[in-house]
Amino acid sequence: MVEEIKKLKKEKNAIILAHYYVNGDIQDVADYVGDSFYLSKVAAKNDADMIVFAGVSFMGESAKILSPDKKVCMAEETADCPMAHMVTVDEINKVRSQYDDLAVVCYINSTAEIKTASDVCVTSANAVNIVKKLPQKNIYFIPDKNLGHYVSLQVPEKNFIFCEGFCPIHNDVTTDMVKRAKEAHPNAKFAVHPECRPEILEIADFIGSTSGIIKFCQETDADEVIIGTVTGVYHQILKAVPDKKLIGLEPELRCKNMGKITLENVRDALKFEEGEMFVDDEVRTKSLIPLDKMLELG
Ligand code: 13P
Ligand code: SF4
Repeated sequence: MVEEIKKLKKEKNAIILAHYYVNGDIQDVADYVGDSFYLSKVAAKNDADMIVFAGVSFMGESAKILSPDKKVCMAEETADCPMAHMVTVDEINKVRSQYDDLAVVCYINSTAEIKTASDVCVTSANAVNIVKKLPQKNIYFIPDKNLGHYVSLQVPEKNFIFCEGFCPIHNDVTTDMVKRAKEAHPNAKFAVHPECRPEILEIADFIGSTSGIIKFCQETDADEVIIGTVTGVYHQILKAVPDKKLIGLEPELRCKNMGKITLENVRDALKFEEGEMFVDDEVRTKSLIPLDKMLELG
């Protein structure tokens, strides 16, 4: 299958983009593996004719918005991020009508429709930097309440309005889960994704995006690291630092949607051009504005 995928990629001048959360065998056939910020930059600046996206819908949708002339096919069409649907345009309009001097800051884990009503997109890798650079005093951070709370602590000079969205996996991490891991591994450092709740971030040694967590594991002196994000990231960490002991939380953090994607899906998307992503022209033009702004500021 890997040989077939390689052949198809050449024939079609296609590239495979894979998020760190997908299964390791897919990461190994991908041309680019990364966090959501990195993958959107690759999509914006690549001269392939076709992109096969091994990730969830908002990632492929953003790739299509940034690169409309390419054919973008989702490896698994039903892989979707529930958080992307946890805010509505009506809610955004309501907050806009209540505040002057407001920026709607949209986590990239959102639908294109939500992006059309936003001022700037962010990812967990660039949110703090971007929000610091915005001229507006009031920040409506959508849809992730946990990432929004984390950013608000780093940028205390702004006034934040939060939304109720969350990641069902990261939001379910409890202090008990972390305590158990720390008790079993007292010398381990704890690295966590900012989609976790505030009380989890408070007991972390490092808070960052998936690529930030990978970098932390490469740079820390600790032999053991407790990983507070989806276990798909282990694949690249262990390639970079094979001697590091990675400790998972119990129960394991698995993203059901990312986990649906198989090597076969990737082959079929390439071969039959299945799962093609389409974005309506008007939606594309409007949602490109906050995405471009992210690339400019981030
Ligand atoms: P990253 O931007 O850190 O890759 O995270 C994406 C995501 O979906 C986290 O759950
Ligand atoms: Fe969405 Fe959470 Fe899965 Fe990330 S881990 S894609 S935020 S459901």
